[in-house]
Amino acid sequence: MTRTEHSGGQIKGLADPWQQVDSSGEVDRLIHILEERGAASDLAELRSRWLEFVGVHPGYHVLDLGCGTGVVTRDVARWVGEQGKVVGVDLSHRLIQEASRLAKEQGLEGRIEFRPADAAALPFPDRSFDLVVASAVFSHIADGLQVLGEMSRVARGGGTVSVFDHDIDTIVVNATDRELSRRIIHAYCDRYFASGWAGRELYGLFRQVALEDISVLPLILSSTQLGAYWQQVIERASTVAIKTGEVSQEEADRWREDLERKGREGQFFGCRNYYCVRGRKP
Ligand SMILES: C[S@@+](CC[C@H](N)C(=O)[O-])C[C@H]1O[C@@H](n2cnc3c(N)ncnc32)[C@H](O)[C@@H]1O
Repeated sequence: MTRTEHSGGQIKGLADPWQQVDSSGEVDRLIHILEERGAASDLAELRSRWLEFVGVHPGYHVLDLGCGTGVVTRDVARWVGEQGKVVGVDLSHRLIQEASRLAKEQGLEGRIEFRPADAAALPFPDRSFDLVVASAVFSHIADGLQVLGEMSRVARGGGTVSVFDHDIDTIVVNATDRELSRRIIHAYCDRYFASGWAGRELYGLFRQVALEDISVLPLILSSTQLGAYWQQVIERASTVAIKTGEVSQEEADRWREDLERKGREGQFFGCRNYYCVRGRKP
């Protein structure tokens, strides 16, 4: 079965909001999630390791694709310094507005420019940037090859293209009922995200476009606390599994209550894999 067949059955009424932020009816919540996750120390640490792996140098001209509220764009702007420049693009006009406001608030507007654009058809000439990056975007787009082709097109010769994304099927929680837990996570991966396997598919995509010296850095995000982030993952995954008919309401409640009890008793464990891939434009 192909990736498209796996991911093609997204559910009516429970679409992945990151594919159409402006019409999702929940823009404020999405802005909050991006900034809250952006500020969380565990994810900030992974981001920093990714940017070290990528090699962001002072004076670089960088494109951040699917920039959202600009969490990565602002980080990169600090790395490139006053001589550098970062352009953030996103499909969502509302997120671009918020990203511009936050960059200004943090005194970075001189080295950042935000504009709306579709990652599949970038409004830049060939070979415009030293570095082109995308964080947590490929899991929300169906045609990763087209987008990676665009990223490669706008990178200069000798420049770098890099993608950072998670892989939904690598979500691990220490639930008691293994078979039930597998059904819920698989449904969440295949029926909610456009490309739930984006993380593991990145290396293969990089091999299909004209990029050289491709390398992969795997990173793990783990937690022993059932905080807001994991509660949201558990809630959404179980809701998807109910709506797709993979589990009954009773099974979903049992799974959630089991994990909540483990959280209360200090026994919760959750983790997921992220993958960073980078390549050089010939
Ligand atoms: C989960 S958010 C990640 C945002 C940001 N990169 C970060 O790491 O904080 C995914 C972003 O991809 C954007 N997006 C989805 N499809 C897109 C497309 N075809 N072109 C440009 N942006 C897109 C969404 O609007 C959203 O801002």
